[in-house]
Formats: sequence, structure tokens, C-alpha cells
Amino acid sequence: MQLMVETRNLRKTYSRPDGSTIEAVKGVDLEIRQGEIFSLLGPNGAGKTTTISMISGLVTPTEGDATIGGFSITTQSMQAKRLMGFVPQEIALYPELSARQNLAFFGRMYGLGGKALSRRVYELLEFVDLADRQKDRIDTFSGGMKRRVNLAAGLLNSPPLIYMDEPTVGIDPQSRRRILDTVKLLRDEQGMTVLYTTHLMEEAEELSDRVGIMDHGEIIAMGTQAELTQQVGEEDRLEFTIGAQEIAEDLVERVQHQTAGVTRILSNPPEQISDDSSESTPARLIIFAKRGRTALPQIIQTLDAADVDIQSVAVREPDLEAVFLALTGRALRD
Ligand SMILES: Nc1ncnc2c1ncn2[C@@H]1O[C@H](COP(=O)(O)OP(=O)(O)O)[C@@H](O)[C@H]1O
Ligand SMILES: [Mg+2]
Repeated sequence: MQLMVETRNLRKTYSRPDGSTIEAVKGVDLEIRQGEIFSLLGPNGAGKTTTISMISGLVTPTEGDATIGGFSITTQSMQAKRLMGFVPQEIALYPELSARQNLAFFGRMYGLGGKALSRRVYELLEFVDLADRQKDRIDTFSGGMKRRVNLAAGLLNSPPLIYMDEPTVGIDPQSRRRILDTVKLLRDEQGMTVLYTTHLMEEAEELSDRVGIMDHGEIIAMGTQAELTQQVGEEDRLEFTIGAQEIAEDLVERVQHQTAGVTRILSNPPEQISDDSSESTPARLIIFAKRGRTALPQIIQTLDAADVDIQSVAVREPDLEAVFLALTGRALRD
């Protein structure tokens, strides 16, 4: 299997104005195969953007290197960059120009021109479902529409590889749907390689052939979804939302010992919203259990007997959230 992107011991240490340093990326080894959708999944601050910025040549690594189609991003950046399109998180469009004018402008920077450029611009606007708005100024577009123009811009020079950095954050559901479908089309119809970053497990699950789970600057797990969920075994996850109350330590122990199959319990205490209010957010209790549905009645009985106010229960089969929980003890969605 041919590798499209390979990183070796990629590191980035940033200096802060106060003289302290932060290791944003701590020795990342990635292998992204030709023709796959690879997701980097991790919470805010995990180091996803820093990683993608290094392998696109925008940020110089403190240590390590990456090759794109065999070309080093540090010593052969011209050849490497020619193979990639990049859809950054922030929108870089001219608000007073139309969608078509923006794309034509970027296209000329890639050396495109004439009929070929007009054709490519129209084709891409159709692809992101904006052909009917092509003559409208960008400043009349919604956030989601701007993201789709951004995506079209990343595809202008028909690269075999595209990076997309959290392209669905803060946009409307319709644009989000369009972008996710587009990502799959790029792979399925054009054989493109896609590196997609997200903090949303659902997106990684829907899109990815393989996933790298990132936390605190490190890849803590990498593989297909099946390979990753196998790591956490056969356990289901029972997620309880409970009324604002402390879960006593001895109750946790009782649940653990009275129910067959329960392996581990995570409980987060309710957080006070503010000091002068008795209002507080509901707490969560996450119980890992083999054959979760079978274990559920006994667990509910034990919680009921302790007067725990159960507001909702969800039974989840092993998924990427479970992998993150198992590896970090934290929930991805926090
Ligand atoms: N230019 C910068 N200067 C200093 N610190 C930075 C800079 N960019 C990112 N960081 C820090 O590096 C860490 C990783 O950030 P980032 O790569 O943006 O993560 P993510 O994209 O996963 O949210 C964070 O702690 C962030 O505050
Ligand atoms: Mg980011």
C-alpha cells in the first residue's frame, strides 16, 4: 500500500510571550495511505491544527519531518506542496468579490487561466452546490457557504491530496451534510486522499477509513475503527444522566460489585453554574459493562434504591468515544 503522507517524529514547541514553552505536538508518526480518508480525531488543543500546519508547510517543525508523495515538506517543499490542497479553518476569501471571482483569483495563483480556469471554477461551484450563487458577493454568504467556497478553492489545482481542518465547525446542518458528502465523493469518485480533522466522533465514524486519535500533542491510537474499538474489548457503555447530586463513593462500589459484567465506572460530579445559584448541571455516570443491556436492570435497581434521580440512560456499543475514554479517562465531547 502506497503512502501519501508519512511523518516521522514530528514535533512543535511554541514559545509563549512570557518565555515559557508549550509542546503542541510531541513526536507524531502518521501514515496516510493513498486513496483513504484519514481522520485526526481529538479534543480542542490536542494539536490537530499544528500537525496539519506542519505537513502543509505553513509551520516549520521543531523536529522531525514529513513526506508527501515521497517529497520532504522541509527540503522539497515545492514538489510536496504541489500535491496538496488545504482547506484551513479560517476563511480566507475576499468579501467584496463574488464566489466565482474569488475562485478565479486563486486559480490564477496556481497558474490556471482562460477557458480551462472558467471551466474548473464552474465545475467546483457545482460540486459544492453553489453554482446558482456564483455571481453573488461572498459577504452575502452564510458561514457554511463560505466554507464550501473555501473547499472549492482547495481543490482548484486538482491535487491528489487534500487537508481539511475542522471544516464543519459552527456551520448550518445543510452545509455540514454537503461537506461530509463531498469528502466521501472526493475519495470514491476521484480517488483522492483526504486528511480530515475533527473533534466530533460522529464525523470520524462516518467518514474515516482509518483514524488517528490525538490528545495532548500525541497520537494515542491509530487504525481502522474496527481495530480501535477492538482495543476496548466487547464492553458496552451505559451513560446515565442524573439529577444534580453527588454520587457517593460507596454507591459506585455497590454498583460495581452487585452487577455481573460491570468493569469500570466513571462519575463526574455536578458542576455549580454559579455560586449564588442552587442551579447546577446534571451529572453523568458512565458504566462500562459486558452485555450492557443485560446488566442494565440491576444497575437501575441499585441506583433507584439509593434515590439517585435518573434522567436518561443510553446504551452504547463500543465506538471511538469508548476508545478515547478508555485511553484518557476523559470524554471526548468535553
Ligand atoms: N502559534 C501558537 N503559539 C503558541 N501556542 C500555540 C500556537 N498554536 C497553537 N498553540 C497551542 O498548541 C496546542 C495545540 O493547539 P492546536 O494545534 O491548535 O490544537 P487543535 O487544533 O487540536 O485544537 C494548544 O495548547 C494551543 O494553545
Ligand atoms: Mg484546530
